[in-house]
Parts: sequence; C-alpha cells; structure tokens
Amino acid sequence: MFWKLQEDILDQDDIGYLVDFIKTTKRFTQFTKVREFEEVWSKWQGCKYSVYVNSGSSANLILISAMKELYGWRDNDEVIVPTVTWVTNISPVMQMGLKPVFVDINPLNFSFDFDQLKERITDRTKAIFVTHLLGFPSGIEGIKKAVAERDIKILEDCCESHGAHIDGVKIGNFGVGSTFSFYWGHHMTTVEGGMICTEREDLYNLCVLKRSHGLARELPQKHHDAYRKQYPDIDFNFLFLTDGFNFRNTELHAALGITQITKLDGYIKIRNKNFSDFLRICDKYDDVLDILQPPEGMSSFSLPFIFKSKEMKRRFQAELAGNRIESRPIISGNLLNQPFLRAYKNTCKATSAELVDKNGFYIGNNQFVNSEKLDALEDIMKKFFGR
Ligand SMILES: Cc1ncc(COP(=O)(O)O)c(C=O)c1O
Repeated sequence: MFWKLQEDILDQDDIGYLVDFIKTTKRFTQFTKVREFEEVWSKWQGCKYSVYVNSGSSANLILISAMKELYGWRDNDEVIVPTVTWVTNISPVMQMGLKPVFVDINPLNFSFDFDQLKERITDRTKAIFVTHLLGFPSGIEGIKKAVAERDIKILEDCCESHGAHIDGVKIGNFGVGSTFSFYWGHHMTTVEGGMICTEREDLYNLCVLKRSHGLARELPQKHHDAYRKQYPDIDFNFLFLTDGFNFRNTELHAALGITQITKLDGYIKIRNKNFSDFLRICDKYDDVLDILQPPEGMSSFSLPFIFKSKEMKRRFQAELAGNRIESRPIISGNLLNQPFLRAYKNTCKATSAELVDKNGFYIGNNQFVNSEKLDALEDIMKKFFGR
C-alpha cells in the first residue's frame, strides 16, 4: 500500500473529453468553454454569477481588490483572517494595502475562536475573510453574531470545502463573495483553476474586468454601448476601466471543469464516508488524540490528527511514513510563525493555531481512499498504541 496525499485524479473520461475538445476547437484562450463551465458551476453552487480564473489564489486577490474598489475601503482598513489557513488568504489583503487582523481558530471544528473574534473587531474592520477549513463549514451564525449590526462584509474562502453546507445551503452563499480552488489536490480539479462567486452584479462586473487587465470589452455585451458613448475618443477594444491583472484561465482547463463537476457529488460522498470511518477509528484513542467535532454538512478535504502530546505526534507520524502513508502539516500550521508574517506574531494569542502546528498533521482523503486503506490504518493504530 502507498497512501499518497493525492492520486491521479483525472480519469479516462476527462482525458477523452479534453482530447476531443482539442481536436475540434479553433480557440484555446478564454472563450465559450470558460462561460459554459461558469454556468454549470453557478448552477451546482446555487449562485447567480461565477468568474473562472487561473487559481484559487488569483480568485482571492481579485475578490479583495474588487471589494476595496467597490466599497471604497482605504489603505490600512482591517480585514479579519484566521491564524490557520492557506497563505493566499492573507497575502491578497496585504498586497491590496489592507491590514490583516488575525483571530485564532477553534481546533476541534476549525471555525473561529468567537470570543477573540468579537474582541478584534474595531471601527476600521471592513470584512471578515472566513476560510471554511478542510471541508468543515465555519460557524456563520457565530460570525454574524460577532458582526452584529455593523457594516462588516463577510467573504468566504471555500477553496478546500466545495459542497460543504449549513442547513442545506452551500457555503459560499453566506457572504458578499466567495472563492474556490480547482488545484490538483482539491475536491475536483481543472489542474490549476479557481472561481469567484457572488450574487451582486456590480461585484461580478468588477471581477470580470480585473480578471483581464481591466478591459471594458470583457464586460457582458449589454454594457458595451454605454462605455462606447462615454469614451468616444478611446478605441473600445483597448478601453481600460480599472486596474486589473491577467488571471484568465484557458478553454482546456474549463473543459476539464465541465467533466469533473459531473462527478463532484460522488467524490464528496466518498470523502465524507471515509471521514466518518476515520472518526470511528480515532474515537477509542481519545486519551492521546483530540477528537474532532465536525459540524453538520461537512465536505471532507483530508483526515487530520491532533495529538495531545507533541512527542506522540512525532512518533506516530514517523510510524505512518514507515508504512508508506504520506502526511503533511495541517495546511501550514500557525501562519504567524511564517517569516513573511513576523510583524503580526504578537498581535494575536494563537494558542489553538500553535496546537495544530505542533501537535497536528493530516493524511490524504479523496475518492481513492477506501475501506482497505482505512482497515490498514486501524491495524497500524492498534499495533502502535498496543490496543
Ligand atoms: C484555503 C485555501 N485558500 C486558497 C488556496 C489557493 O488555491 P490555489 O492553490 O488554487 O491557488 C488554497 C489552496 O490549497 C486553500 O486551501
């Protein structure tokens, strides 16, 4: 057995669809396949607008840039972020001249520490950039309560939680905008890729502009005449309405999205079954392990262990490696330990992030993890713990 963090996720159907597309298309750059993928994604996600880009990180950067412009946020306005997430949940906030304000997590359900969240909200807080970590839907009710009546926008990074839901509503539909990643190891893949989702037409238009240099011609057709009239002296094809990036993705990647999404619900079902079997296996070791408490509606990303002792974590992780089971830190552990965030180190009491950092790691969960692998894990644990 070799239990990798991720397997070769594209199957022969995906490859066949892509090859047929390559043989017949006349255009490879962003065009109708991208629009088709955006439409099927919006339908699956239950949102009005989707913008396909070249990564989840690009989606985050566009979203923060568009929010700052749309709502007139000023430099050094504050955006609340978790201490444990992927780095490109934090860096876009800094790159856009805003200030990340760190709030620790709850290590058992990966939501925020709500007491700390309330304390960290100030007059300059413009947004809470929630990450739904590892497929656990974050406690939106608690976040809304902390925000109370203040005009603080909720943004959702769903890059590792596709299909997680709260009371039947998919995450990504609770804030002003949300983002997804289709990188290799995620619930579905377009090899590289990301999506921005929103219900707001103004935010959608800004994201579309920013995805492609700020070019007016990228907007839906119905807006073109008004801009032609407003700027008669500028060639409409080279009219730039805002500052932008080039974060477009290609028709090839979108084609993969169109076939992968048909299998996504099935993949999520397998991941969740694996996760509940994993919890059952861990349950009897609650003297050495912190037993996770996933809320209803999860869409498992990975199988995380958090040990009560650092030494036990080190030994058990080595035991798994010896049995050819790959593992890695829980995302990147406590982000406040990272060199690029040194300046924020003492701004937040990150006790739980530190626990996850020092005592935690995860192993892979995906549609290739099955009862055979989970039985092997159970045997390894029985032998290792002697019971
Ligand atoms: C929470 C989170 N946000 C953002 C990203 C970035 O996505 P990408 O790798 O597509 O840039 C990831 C990637 O793993 C992630 O887990």
